[in-house]
Amino acid sequence: MKVGIDKIGFYSPDKYIDMVDLANARNEDPNKYLIGIGQKKQAVIPNTQDVVTMAANASQKIINDDDKKSIDLIIFGTETGVDNSKSAAIYLQNLLKLNASARAFEIKQACYGATAGLQMAKEYVTNHPNKKALVIGADVARYGLNTPGEVTQGGGAIAMVVSTNPSIASFDGESAFHSDDIMDFWRPLYRTEAVVDGHYSNNVYVDFFKDTWDKYNQMNQLSVDDYKALTFHLPYVKMGIKGLRAVLTEASESKQEELKNEFNFSKIYSENIGNLYTGSLYLSFLSLINNSNDLQSGDRIGLFSYGSGAQGEFFSMKLEQNFKNNDSVEDINSMLNNREKLTIDEYETMFNNWIPIKNVNMNLNWQSDDAEFFLKALKDNQRI
Ligand code: HMG
Repeated sequence: MKVGIDKIGFYSPDKYIDMVDLANARNEDPNKYLIGIGQKKQAVIPNTQDVVTMAANASQKIINDDDKKSIDLIIFGTETGVDNSKSAAIYLQNLLKLNASARAFEIKQACYGATAGLQMAKEYVTNHPNKKALVIGADVARYGLNTPGEVTQGGGAIAMVVSTNPSIASFDGESAFHSDDIMDFWRPLYRTEAVVDGHYSNNVYVDFFKDTWDKYNQMNQLSVDDYKALTFHLPYVKMGIKGLRAVLTEASESKQEELKNEFNFSKIYSENIGNLYTGSLYLSFLSLINNSNDLQSGDRIGLFSYGSGAQGEFFSMKLEQNFKNNDSVEDINSMLNNREKLTIDEYETMFNNWIPIKNVNMNLNWQSDDAEFFLKALKDNQRI
């Protein structure tokens, strides 16, 4: 029995800044951001969007009435939760009018949360083949104005339906994991921006990738030649290139070219959005299947998930018959092409006004938000 990803939806708000503008404002050479970091544009999140509304906007693109009846597991991966107690999954369940006979909860381990959810959903659906699961990865990546991490911010949501006989890709083999108590990136409860040891985090990421890659291939008796493409958690595009380079020497010259070409398709969405934290790996997977022209059903795709702190996991999936969905291609192209470009001044104001956590009562400028789901106000400590 095949189990895997049946549908993927993506949403990111309709505002962005250009990395050349940001570089100029920060007195950096634009090529540092464009080539050294690998980013072109960065999504900016208005205060009318949080992880709940973004997840609802991503999910409503893919969920139909049949899914609403069959989904009885809702797992929300995020490190940008809106409440220390109530899970974002419960809000989402209500907004989407999902089945009330469901388990709904939130899960956290930095950028790894959606992968934890996906793997739990795999086990659940394997044991309950007539059921489906909804897995979310939604976040707002914030490091702060004028910080080295600023160029790697971003935000948005990925929604995935996991089922038997999936349309997009099925799980293939047992995953390899690695975890260790590491202070490379974290966010204490009182902060809305991450604390990060940037260069150290880059090194740990590559070490975790190599460890899980070697283990996975040994466990499943595979080598680099068995993969059509490798996809990575992309905190910024250059990080994925560093990961890829770490294993390219294991491949023949023609295979190296193929893996580099496919990587270029997998980075297109991320270089225009920035870091999604939990959703980033799945955004690069979606970018690959939506943009590459030479994939076929049966191709094996490697996926490396990394969550600071730190947890790594490598696994692979095989593409299914209907992996390419033209509606998704058009939807995302139109979403990316119709965004409003902000000046750096406008972005800084929006950044400083995002989620006014201290305000228990406040009306928000929701009339300017075109999304189907948005935050209207904060009232009596509730989000409306
Ligand atoms: P930095 O110190 O400003 O940049 O911060 P740099 O000096 O290291 O330069 C970056 C690259 O640009 C270098 O290339 C330079 O050579 C190059 P590299 O050596 O890396 O190949 N460069 C240029 N290239 C062309 N033309 C030029 C030029 N100038 C320089 N003129 C850093 C960079 C990534 C550290 C910073 O942005 C940061 O701290 N980001 C946040 C942390 C991060 O994303 N870490 C990634 C791994 S951890 C992870 O993935 C988990 C995470 O998603 C969180 C979670 O799990 O929840 C972050």
